[in-house]
Amino acid sequence: MEVGFLGLGIMGKAMSLNLLRHGFKVTVWNRTVSRCDVLVEHGASVAETPAAVIKKCKYTIAMLSDPSAALSVVFDKDGVLEEICSGKGYIDMSTVDSDTSSKISEAITGKGGYFLEAPVSGSKKPAEDGQLVILAAGEKALYDEVIPAFDVLGKKSFFLGKVGNGAKMKLVVNMIMGSMMNAFSEGLVLAERSGLSQQTLLDIVDLGGIANPMFKQKGPAMIQSKFPPAFPLKHQQKDMRLALALGDENAVSMPVAAAANEAFKKARSLGLGDNDFSAVYEAVKIPDCSADA
Ligand SMILES: NC(=O)c1ccc[n+]([C@@H]2O[C@H](COP(=O)([O-])OP(=O)(O)OC[C@H]3O[C@@H](n4cnc5c(N)ncnc54)[C@H](OP(=O)(O)O)[C@@H]3O)[C@@H](O)[C@H]2O)c1
Repeated sequence: MEVGFLGLGIMGKAMSLNLLRHGFKVTVWNRTVSRCDVLVEHGASVAETPAAVIKKCKYTIAMLSDPSAALSVVFDKDGVLEEICSGKGYIDMSTVDSDTSSKISEAITGKGGYFLEAPVSGSKKPAEDGQLVILAAGEKALYDEVIPAFDVLGKKSFFLGKVGNGAKMKLVVNMIMGSMMNAFSEGLVLAERSGLSQQTLLDIVDLGGIANPMFKQKGPAMIQSKFPPAFPLKHQQKDMRLALALGDENAVSMPVAAAANEAFKKARSLGLGDNDFSAVYEAVKIPDCSADA
């Protein structure tokens, strides 16, 4: 199967390398061209524009940072829309809101192409290991056709129905995750300020009902103030923002998520946006000045 791949960030690089490793022919494009080099070393071809990728490949996957990047790659000059046509499929695996996904879907299908949104749950390591969870929605026929690629990229794929359902499910999952990371950070700070060992807290949490892979994996690095980016904090804050907007639309009160979003915004304002999202711990550590007023 020949597959196009647009966007070679943390996730896109790992995913396209996986496809190459499993015998797919892959043609890549990335805004910053130098990021294509490592893929070429592993056998990928490079195209000069998103349109050129679409022209060459029957199926093209995108893995881009946010709604504005996802829209730009489709609608701007030399974008996906210029070459998409009947018989071609476009699979956007970026995390975006359902409105963005619907706009892209309408444009692609308006030109006769097939569209699938397929955001993923799982971070850098699961992407490297082909262990993502794929949350697809849109054209079922396209979903069935690209299952061989999804089987390489993920450990499980869900087909969730109409366009928007994959985007919404992903935002719900990441809203829970962002709130959990804030509660965890507050716990670590509270333990330290109370004179307790943070390592002992990690050991105790890991033995009980609130044990989970995220705390286990991130905790030891967090207590050493190390935040190597697996899931960049700026993207987690984008997901909180989009999840809160989904809450607005559906009149769901989400005070926990709203507070978590504020902490991620504070972390961004401290220049931590390109660190792992666990760096919200650094923002939580800073005493709240308003409490002194
Ligand atoms: N990392 C994770 O753990 C994880 C897990 C699940 C889902 N996601 C989601 O997956 C997507 C990608 O995440 P990532 O961690 O791979 O992010 P990343 O490392 O920041 O990569 C972002 C990619 O988007 C491209 N891009 C950004 N703005 C663009 C624009 N205006 N036009 C064209 N390309 C643009 C970047 O190109 P340049 O190289 O030129 O900057 C890069 O290829 C995001 O939606 C994220 O929320 C991430």
